[in-house]
Amino acid sequence: MLSLENIHTYYGRSHILQGISLHIQPGETVALLGRNGAGKSTTINSIMGFTPPRHGRIHLHQTDITHQPPHRIARLGVGLVPQGRDIFPLLTVHENLTLAARHSHKHGWTLDRVLALFPALAQRQYARGSQLSGGEQQMLALGRALLTNPDLLLLDEPSEGLAPLIVTEISHILRQLRQEGLSILLVEQNLSLALNLADRLYVLNKGQIAFTGTPADLHYQPEIKHRYLGV
Ligand SMILES: Nc1ncnc2c1ncn2[C@@H]1O[C@H](COP(=O)(O)OP(=O)(O)OP(=O)(O)O)[C@@H](O)[C@H]1O
Ligand SMILES: [Mg+2]
Repeated sequence: MLSLENIHTYYGRSHILQGISLHIQPGETVALLGRNGAGKSTTINSIMGFTPPRHGRIHLHQTDITHQPPHRIARLGVGLVPQGRDIFPLLTVHENLTLAARHSHKHGWTLDRVLALFPALAQRQYARGSQLSGGEQQMLALGRALLTNPDLLLLDEPSEGLAPLIVTEISHILRQLRQEGLSILLVEQNLSLALNLADRLYVLNKGQIAFTGTPADLHYQPEIKHRYLGV
């Protein structure tokens, strides 16, 4: 579904991603973990075309997307739930959703289906984005991405700043999406959420992959958990 080969990404002269290789098979949920500043969002932004890599290649299916603009990468089937949600605060829930909607026979996400998945949003359709709680905003960002009918969903710390009950709710929804066969790249600092959902994990440290394996593999590596994830 997605492959990153030896990606190097810079901000000006700062060499942030230093040779990242990462692969996602169709239908796989892959977690990308790491401390603050490890380069998780930069990885997402490199895939999405916001910060194109200076070296290395990124393929979606068989298509080279390394230097494609973000809107084209989105149209090729990548849905983004950005860190901090970035919903439109002055637009209503309904407007935020319908603005993003793109029809697809393949995946079949419609407004009604998204509202059925998130009953809290259905009840607040005519509230503005800014009037929603953090959890509702996160659901709106997720619903908006689903309405683009993506093949691959990128989620940048969906649990950030949310109460445990809401995190559990989001975890149930992501599990459901996974069961439906969606491919997911989940950036997280919440280790238990990532361990619960992911088929495989990558741990990022200072712009390099420090570990890759299954959740069970990581379980037997307490030193990796301690050194790179602080747990
Ligand atoms: N626009 C930017 N210009 C310059 N440096 C940046 C920019 N954005 C991020 N950085 C730097 O790049 C490094 C990686 O940042 P990134 O946002 O990818 O980390 P992260 O793993 O997503 O962290 P967090 O968990 O806090 O979101 C950090 O050192 C950060 O300061
Ligand atoms: Mg980040």
